[in-house]
Amino acid sequence: MAGAGMKNYLSSRWTIFLCLLTVLCSLFTPAVSVKENDFKKCHQSGFCKRNRAYADNAAALGSSWKTPYKISPELASFKDGQFQATIIKTIDEQGNTVQLPLTVSFLKSGTARVSVDEKKRQEKDIELRHNSKARKERYNEAEKWAIVGGLDIDTDAKVSHESKTDIKIQYGPNSAFEAHITYEPYSIEFKRDGATQIKLNDRGLMNLEHWRPRIEKPTPEKKEGEESQEEKKEETPEVSPLEDDSTWWDEAFGGNTDSKPRGPESVALDITFFGYEHVYGIPEHAGPLSLKETRGGEGNYAEPYRLYNSDVFEYILDSPMTLYGAIPFMQAQRKDSTVGVFWLNAAETWIDITRAKESKNPLALGASPKTNTQTHWISENGLMDVFVFLGPTPRDITKSYAELTGTTALPQEFSLGYHQCRWNYVSDDDVKEVDRKMDRYHIPYDVIWLDIEYTDDKKYFTWDKDMFKDPISMGKHLDNHGRKLVTIIDPHIKNVGGYHVSEELKSKGLAVKNKDGNDFDGWCWPGSSHWIDAFNPAAIKWWTSLFKYDAFKGTMENTFIWNDMNEPSVFNGPEVTMPKDNLHYGDWEHRDVHNINGMTFHNATYEALLSRKKGELRRPFILTRSFYAGSQRLGAMWTGDNQASWEHLAASIPMVLAQGISGFPFAGADVGGFFGNPELELQSRWFQAGAFYPFFRGHAHIDARRREPFLLAEPYRSIITSALRLRYSLLPSWYTAFYHANRDGSPIIRPLYWTHPSEEGGFGIDDQFFVGSTGLLVKPIVEKEKTSTDIYIPDGEVYYDYFNYKKLPTSKGKRLTVNAPLEAIPILIQGGHIFPRRDTPRRSSQLMKFDDYTLVVAVGNNGEAEGELYVDDGDSFDYEKDQYIHRTFKLEGSTLTSTDAESRDTKKIKEGDWLKKMRNVAVDKIIVVGAPSSWANKKEVVVESEGNKASVPLTYHKADGNRGAFAVIGRVGAKIGADWSVSFA
Ligand code: NOJ
Repeated sequence: MAGAGMKNYLSSRWTIFLCLLTVLCSLFTPAVSVKENDFKKCHQSGFCKRNRAYADNAAALGSSWKTPYKISPELASFKDGQFQATIIKTIDEQGNTVQLPLTVSFLKSGTARVSVDEKKRQEKDIELRHNSKARKERYNEAEKWAIVGGLDIDTDAKVSHESKTDIKIQYGPNSAFEAHITYEPYSIEFKRDGATQIKLNDRGLMNLEHWRPRIEKPTPEKKEGEESQEEKKEETPEVSPLEDDSTWWDEAFGGNTDSKPRGPESVALDITFFGYEHVYGIPEHAGPLSLKETRGGEGNYAEPYRLYNSDVFEYILDSPMTLYGAIPFMQAQRKDSTVGVFWLNAAETWIDITRAKESKNPLALGASPKTNTQTHWISENGLMDVFVFLGPTPRDITKSYAELTGTTALPQEFSLGYHQCRWNYVSDDDVKEVDRKMDRYHIPYDVIWLDIEYTDDKKYFTWDKDMFKDPISMGKHLDNHGRKLVTIIDPHIKNVGGYHVSEELKSKGLAVKNKDGNDFDGWCWPGSSHWIDAFNPAAIKWWTSLFKYDAFKGTMENTFIWNDMNEPSVFNGPEVTMPKDNLHYGDWEHRDVHNINGMTFHNATYEALLSRKKGELRRPFILTRSFYAGSQRLGAMWTGDNQASWEHLAASIPMVLAQGISGFPFAGADVGGFFGNPELELQSRWFQAGAFYPFFRGHAHIDARRREPFLLAEPYRSIITSALRLRYSLLPSWYTAFYHANRDGSPIIRPLYWTHPSEEGGFGIDDQFFVGSTGLLVKPIVEKEKTSTDIYIPDGEVYYDYFNYKKLPTSKGKRLTVNAPLEAIPILIQGGHIFPRRDTPRRSSQLMKFDDYTLVVAVGNNGEAEGELYVDDGDSFDYEKDQYIHRTFKLEGSTLTSTDAESRDTKKIKEGDWLKKMRNVAVDKIIVVGAPSSWANKKEVVVESEGNKASVPLTYHKADGNRGAFAVIGRVGAKIGADWSVSFA
């Protein structure tokens, strides 16, 4: 299929588009990978190249390398939980210096924050080239977008040692943390319980490129007979990369020249994790969860991980190349310890990772030398602003990061169901027909999506009047079975007369500006376009007005939104995005804010959906492609334009896991693959995997064949339908997992290092995961013709097969082989858990809202089990007013109980409509997996609830060759919101 270039000229109506595609496709054989040359490598990005050269030079000089940064003790002070000083950078042999104000803040959460600015720029005491209108300061508003809390200062932090050369500050829980700031050369060592965990500027690679005026070098006149400069260059030896100023000023790439009015201004710092072999995070990349080394060598990358949100069309796998979103948050893991850093910077960023063994300490007999992970963070500009987390558990890190950047919004309940999308459903009749067919084949789904072709000529907030004659009738048709519609709205606004959105954008002055201060004009789906500047509060307000039901006609209460192309994607821009010297609200350059741009657009749409109608306050659902730290507060993300290949299916699992541990767990990949046509086996396996993505959507490129599940031949249709039904039956457990993500940021699907931080054997595993705290351990099949797989067992707990309840021959550290013919998904249940399900298959989640529950109790090694259910109306914010049910289930001794998980006196809660209706919802069935053989002759049990006792039937099933022992307690009848107990005595 055509690649990125194709985007440049396909902008007209769908029919023309299709014709053109047909012609194109007949001309070319499918290209399967990104146009790599459209995107920079480190050596093509001036500041990255300079900082790598800086690191190489330091490494080459070894112990004789001296970092030019030091703190002058006279100006250093510690007061009320903050250390303040000035870092002095010596910039030349004459001893000239620049001043870099430093603040180290110790936060109540136990997190430390190290911020470095540049004095001259704080004071705006610099000159900009090219008469630029840009701001003079270093960008200091990333915090405004990313951080929502957790900044309270720990006034108990105290100095434990102070001298002319260094200071030690104790802080954190039980004062167990210590920051040791050394003045010359400047470094900060972070210790927990006396042991060094993290050190900033350990290798002396800190580099803050201070502002300097450009000194024009005279171009020597060419005398007759002399070679031209060009010719001369060929012969002269290359300038040392450290003195090479060729990328300080105007910098060109792919036909675009960046005017760089402030010259070189990068910030770089090395951060070492002591004794940590694994580092995770810094999405979005298509590679393993445990990050690779990036300085070459066997099995390593040769390029740093890059964070520069980009529309990377047909991305390649196992690569540090940048993708659509950026979360500069990294965690390091060793046995029983997790630490992390968050690099709060919105500019283009590169991260090098290397590992080094510490030299063996001759006095430490027998101890093998530790491996340290060394990282080198390089951003084009902005502040140097680093948060340091000392754990010690993955949970602690997740929680502290969530305190800063916020948590996943409690989702619209429907959004956890299945989403049916393609580019494009061509008409309202097409939508209705797909909907009917899903019903005819009893395939559950919740949402159908409209891609860009529903609009009139890619003018968002309009409809193609020929194809979508009556959107409201379409919306109502869907609503009849509780289904929803998602329509796409992108940030580029067609630049054309007579289009109210474009006219308002321009007349109100709310578009992103080019370097000269005029509305920036670029090319995207609609052709010539302007971009809304969602950094501007006035733009957000205006954007909000466009989504009112009476403004965006054709939408109604069951319409939700998809924000795409918000990196932003600009087809004719450098690296398919905006020129870096474009200007945003507040005169910040695009280079300052690039990685936050997508989040601001997502945020504007979020604000808009909160107020579509006076008096209506419902949870928005917005899918975004581009994101930054904090985007989790606004909706879901997906991994963009993948391909219908087994490799892409496999890659989706570590990618979704990486999102989860980086604070943005509401994530999924296009099921079936965006580009191409999945073979039936691949599509089936993809649905089985997708049923365990937190965000579960099938999507396909406009050129892909129709592949809605009902179109598939048997047995594939049934296999996919079963996967969908499994998802739907487990929705109560998914919703409970989202509740936890909302409370403390915990991942929804969880990798083994996160659940079992003591088990080193699991640290490199990223193809299996636990679902929330259900105890469900899943390993989707991601290889062709594979009919069995090995699951790593991280503990000594009993494990059961999800489908036949067999007790499995597991032991800690074992790789258990399980059969997985095409119709099977390898799922185990870890003993000791109780999880809720709803077992009646229905067409949509809304139709299941008041269905009774099934509880699955998986008896643990110690005969006990515990679990949880959280449920609310899944739509409004009434949960903030106690309108929810939150139960803890416990099997202890011979009694199973349900109590309020928060020990509330639920009788005192004033019940709204939803809670009242939930009064009729009961626990219908309890399945006890691994039920003891002493129950074999039991025929009934006593259920006690709300002062009543009743005997209900129990059926005991002995283990046989095909299944494990289990008991079913039917017609339980106890209300889900009430306290109850079941006695098995
Ligand atoms: C790019 C998105 O990644 C893809 O999902 C979508 O179908 C196209 N844009 C068209 O809107």
